[in-house]
Amino acid sequence: MHDISAIRAFLPCATPQAWIDWALQHPDIVLIDHAHCEKKAASTALNLMFRYVDRPELLDALSQLAREELLHFEQVIQLMRQRGVQYDHLSPSRYAASLRKQMRNDEPGRLVDVLIIGALIEARSCERFAALAPFVDDELGKYYHYLLKSESRHFEDYLKLAELYAGEDISARVAQFVALEQELIETPDTEFRFHSGVPA
Ligand SMILES: [Fe+2]
Ligand SMILES: [Fe+2]
Repeated sequence: MHDISAIRAFLPCATPQAWIDWALQHPDIVLIDHAHCEKKAASTALNLMFRYVDRPELLDALSQLAREELLHFEQVIQLMRQRGVQYDHLSPSRYAASLRKQMRNDEPGRLVDVLIIGALIEARSCERFAALAPFVDDELGKYYHYLLKSESRHFEDYLKLAELYAGEDISARVAQFVALEQELIETPDTEFRFHSGVPA
């Protein structure tokens, strides 16, 4: 599988088998939450483009990223329609909110942190598609493999932007977010979501 080794090296842990089993019990929520995640990824990128109009590298990278996320969104809701899965609201999981709670308020700290969190979310999504692929039907498995390529590029884009705008070494800051991410992935969670922890 291409591109996934950099993702696995960046992330603190693999998706636990308990989460995979949980996902297989909730195939509809996997699709519905996936659609929400793609839409949210596009909207996060757009928000950054509004906030940081003076950062040309960010504008270029995130504009392309937002378009790709919206394309993924259209693909997922199409898959859902074919499968008779009703799109619905879902409460967001604790994952992104817990990461964002640690964001600094000063600039460029805030920007750097948002970009590191973006890299983590993209990397974990990618890793979860790879983790789910062997257990789902062929059509979905192929689709998850197709997504790996763009999501791993998104991870790299976010990380590169974080390094660029920090103007200093970010490895210590990345390590703090990575440690929190591991906790969110490995500890019991209340509801199944694409980025949830393990069942309580
Ligand atoms: Fe995506
Ligand atoms: Fe993405």
